[in-house]
Amino acid sequence: MLRKIGILTSGGDSPGMNAAIRAVTRTALTNGIEVIGIKDGYKGLVNGDYEQFNRKSVSETIARGGTILGSARLPEFAQEEVLLKGVEKLKENDIDALVVIGGDGTYRGADALTKHGINCIALPGTIDNDIEGTDYTIGFDTALQTIVDCVDKLRDTSNSHHRCSVVEVMGNRCGDLAIYSGISTGAEILITPETGYDEEAVLEKLRYLEAQGKNHAIVIVSEKVCDVKSLADKVSNATGFSGRATILGHIQRGGSPTPSDRVLASRMGAKAVELLVEGIGGHCVAIRNNEIISMPIEECINLPRKNRKEFYRLFDKLV
Ligand code: F6P
Repeated sequence: MLRKIGILTSGGDSPGMNAAIRAVTRTALTNGIEVIGIKDGYKGLVNGDYEQFNRKSVSETIARGGTILGSARLPEFAQEEVLLKGVEKLKENDIDALVVIGGDGTYRGADALTKHGINCIALPGTIDNDIEGTDYTIGFDTALQTIVDCVDKLRDTSNSHHRCSVVEVMGNRCGDLAIYSGISTGAEILITPETGYDEEAVLEKLRYLEAQGKNHAIVIVSEKVCDVKSLADKVSNATGFSGRATILGHIQRGGSPTPSDRVLASRMGAKAVELLVEGIGGHCVAIRNNEIISMPIEECINLPRKNRKEFYRLFDKLV
């Protein structure tokens, strides 16, 4: 019989995490299950930084970005002794099960806890959309909206000045934010982990576009693939465009979640509690073809990367 569950957010925050916390809390309370908010991810779990939640604890949070629980990265949680300390703390506080919201590292922690007797359900909370098995992660849509707003603005000024804007977006080695924003903004060039980086080919393409009469250009670059400042300088030196670099950075992680993210987070949060009530642990929740499903975390973390070839072909056709 499930009496008390914990909830935490871990890793990089993402807009919509609060909507998920709210859905988990209220669904659990409706089922007569107590809810404990755990601060700062696995760090708070190990240190016993716990707070009793009621329906009001999550009032006025659905529209708020960030996470009311705070978040942290704790790589040490992969060590057996740290994990066991966490298990002990949960048992001391009579917490039978846990819902965790985060990315890949968060999933691994949840899997390990389940194997040590604490049923965990993981929800995909990351702007990167780099969790496999789910079409979308909580926060991706909002981050994409932020990027598109910013690039649309850059396009205006870039157009006025015959410039090439080289824009770095986040993604943690996943090109989804780049390819989705590239298609949405009508960018001219994409540089992602999937495309790779060939500097000469990029400069050549810009010269070609210029010769075709393009007045300005947008290059979207996934973080960690190339240095946008140095690419912008090369654009200025080797093409007729004047290059300018913009690193969007953490602005992509903030802001009020879009309605899509709020609904996704709410559906996933409710599903997490339903699974725990059924006695299921070690699963993660996903959305596929607009259906909320779950699968073992172990299966999810071993899935191959999503195939985006159709997106890249589309991008090339539309330039
Ligand atoms: O995973 C989310 C993310 O924003 C990535 O896109 C990025 O690489 C990383 O986190 C940045 O981490 P931090 O906030 O620790 O600098």
